Amino acid sequence: MAFSPRVFSGIQPSGDLHLGNYLGAIRRFVPLQDTHETLYCVVDMHAITVWQEPNALRRATREVAAAFIAAGVDPKRSIVFNQSQVMQHAELAWVFNCVARIGWMNRMTQFKDKAGKNSENVSLGLLAYPSLMAADILLYKATAVPVGDDQKQHLELTRDIAAKFNNDYAASIAEQGLDPDFFPITEPLIAGPATRIMSLRDGTKKMSKSDPSDQSRISLLDDADAISKKIKKATTDPAELPLEVADLKERPEADNLVGIYAALSDKTKAEVLAEFGGHGWGKFKPALADLAVAQLAPMAGEMRRLIDDPTTIDGILRDGGERAAALAEKTMHDVRRIVGFIR
Ligand code: TYM
Repeated sequence: MAFSPRVFSGIQPSGDLHLGNYLGAIRRFVPLQDTHETLYCVVDMHAITVWQEPNALRRATREVAAAFIAAGVDPKRSIVFNQSQVMQHAELAWVFNCVARIGWMNRMTQFKDKAGKNSENVSLGLLAYPSLMAADILLYKATAVPVGDDQKQHLELTRDIAAKFNNDYAASIAEQGLDPDFFPITEPLIAGPATRIMSLRDGTKKMSKSDPSDQSRISLLDDADAISKKIKKATTDPAELPLEVADLKERPEADNLVGIYAALSDKTKAEVLAEFGGHGWGKFKPALADLAVAQLAPMAGEMRRLIDDPTTIDGILRDGGERAAALAEKTMHDVRRIVGFIR
């Protein structure tokens, strides 16, 4: 059976959204609405794998939904919802906890990074995190998942879980008269010039909400002044911009800023260098600051307007939750039969 083209992606409501989340994921959600059925999810159940103050979680959930919409996700064309409204995510994640192996989870670099030396004392949810992520995607039989580079390993695990489920339950899937490829082997969509946006202070570190320096990232709620200042103060090497993309290789800060310019202007890095190669930072940084302000400041304004209107946001999430649940239940109905649960 051919799976119809369906996109799923999720963002955690666990703090400030930043330019990496926007360029690596949210901005790329918008054009996919023209070619795919699209589901965009605020993954609040993933967020609580580390402690979240409940009021902050509610605020952050609305903030992520506001960012989707301010960026151009249309809640009528796309299904926009928060994960915890659709209980089938938890239900399928449990089944996947029993399909996936502990060794697979222990190998996840994000788990190792987050757990650090403290791996006995982090939540069990943090270890099982990728299993819930696989459930998010496979509940909707999504064929493609747009994410940043840091999610690659989780998406490989999603493919492994789908394949192992299809294989372990092959006889039962056949007995129920269902397609042997019950779950699709999902394609990661990790492409473009901005799959890994780096810190503005240190080109070797990923831009991240956990970086203690506010100057290291552009928040999606930053105003024009803050955006411009952060770009102008961004760490760079002293050399002028190269003419060739290959010459960005040993220059992480330059590579990062050129990548940001390329993503914001829908160009390739080569096109950006055709314009700025051979010129110094005195020309490039103000141009990048103007571009970033022109794109991001209106979005921040729209986000703020939406955040101030929680009734509208909650209505959108509720409507999306109902539409998502209808799709999710179709899959779960089959999964329960396949596994042998009586209902
Ligand atoms: P999260 O919430 O950490 O990040 C959301 C999205 O932003 C991307 N991203 C970046 N892209 C480029 N440069 C960066 N510096 C950068 N930082 C973050 C992430 O790759 C991601 O696409 N596990 C996921 C959430 C999730 C999910 C899913 C994603 C849960 N279920 C199902 C896809 C499908 C996460 O923690 O993303």
